[in-house]
Amino acid sequence: MSGVSAPTGLGEFDLGHLNFWARPESEREAAFAQLRQLGEPRFVPFINNLPLAKKNDGVYALVRHADVVEASRNPKLFSSEPTANSVADMPPWLAPFFDSMINMDDPRHSRIRKVVARAFTPRLLAKLEVDLQRRATRIVDDVVTAGRGDLVTQVAQRLPIQVICDMMGIPEHQYDYVLERTNRIIGYSDPEYTGISREYLVRHGAPGRRHIIPVSARLLRAGLDLIRLVRRLGEERTRHPQDDLISALVNANADGERLDPRDVGTFFILLLVAGNETTRNVLTHTVKLLTEHPDQRALLLEDYDGRIGPAIEEIVRYVTPVIQFRRTVTGDCELGGRELHRGDKLLLFYNSANRDETVFDDPDRFDITRSPNPHVGFGGPGPHFCLGANLARREITVMLRELYTRLPEIRTVGEPERLLSFFINGIKRMPFVTTG
Ligand code: HEM
Repeated sequence: MSGVSAPTGLGEFDLGHLNFWARPESEREAAFAQLRQLGEPRFVPFINNLPLAKKNDGVYALVRHADVVEASRNPKLFSSEPTANSVADMPPWLAPFFDSMINMDDPRHSRIRKVVARAFTPRLLAKLEVDLQRRATRIVDDVVTAGRGDLVTQVAQRLPIQVICDMMGIPEHQYDYVLERTNRIIGYSDPEYTGISREYLVRHGAPGRRHIIPVSARLLRAGLDLIRLVRRLGEERTRHPQDDLISALVNANADGERLDPRDVGTFFILLLVAGNETTRNVLTHTVKLLTEHPDQRALLLEDYDGRIGPAIEEIVRYVTPVIQFRRTVTGDCELGGRELHRGDKLLLFYNSANRDETVFDDPDRFDITRSPNPHVGFGGPGPHFCLGANLARREITVMLRELYTRLPEIRTVGEPERLLSFFINGIKRMPFVTTG
């Protein structure tokens, strides 16, 4: 473990290098367990090949539960600006597409959150329920007919995209168009979506400088397509409001609050990425986990309605679909025993906080009855706590009930094809069969 205490070049803890994220899950978990033992947050280099950027940018890795919670609940000192969802500062030409409220502090953040929160009230979520059930039934009808196939395309990815598009008022014939763009945005470090070979990415740790223009162009194009789509709808709904989210966002509410067109666009992209990829991965990982843990599956199916609530919290803890978000230090301070200075970058590793042995008994055990379960899979406590957490819980509850009631023997077979990413714990393909 030489070099562990050095400020750079952490060797096996090279969290900023894609080679680390290509390693088997057990090895990554073991590395995080060692990092947690090391005490104060460590500095890790991050390869940054954006033009004009310092080549080896660095961040402090927050790997302990207490440090992640502390950074989340203190936004004045640990800011979400200039960005929370990118290790590198966002170049100005990407900002119009991706600079959404997740990358803002108050008062800008709270103004937008107040407007968009209208879509997530318990009353509106209850209204969605009938729709969720109808859609889940249709998806499982198809799975019953097919009997086998790919869990991601045939099951997991269908419901979240339908729900978000429906909320926004995007017509059904455009679901695939939207999904393809979302995959490209979230897969910006994966060979399939960058066109760069896996060998290159794993050897060099990131796309090279020569790839930056084509990779950025693909990202930009995906963002532009989505913004155009939502802008067209926004203009239409300003003239003819309907009962959908876009109409609510572009037309003033009783307090006169509304979003300007740029914020509607970036919010839509945030919603797609935040709400689509996460929930889809939870669904895929769940079928895999319940295949690997037949005792937990039996326990769940014995009393589905009684156990699904805590089960979802345990799945989100165990899987941690969003690996990390960033904060930036605004003034000299101390966190977890480490002195920090204005401008230092922090990465909040939710995956590691969720396996912190000082908070969770036997953290590597998958236990759907775990209680208490103070996981940070939906983010730490604070102003950016996941806005869609309750929606995600409802989607997962309805989808799994439909799936396991009608196909109690459904299980994954073989190995998943994982997304190469240090941001999303994603599965791209996962074979399944419906009978034992
Ligand atoms: C299991 C599924 C999900 C997981 C694991 C998840 C995870 C997260 C995390 C970790 C954050 C915190 C970001 C931070 O502190 O900087 C977050 C924020 C957010 N999530 Fe989720 N999410 C999920 C589902 C959803 C869904 C279904 C939606 C909406 C349809 C959604 C919308 C959002 C939004 C809008 C934010 C930003 C909130 C803000 O900045 O105020 N998420 N999510």
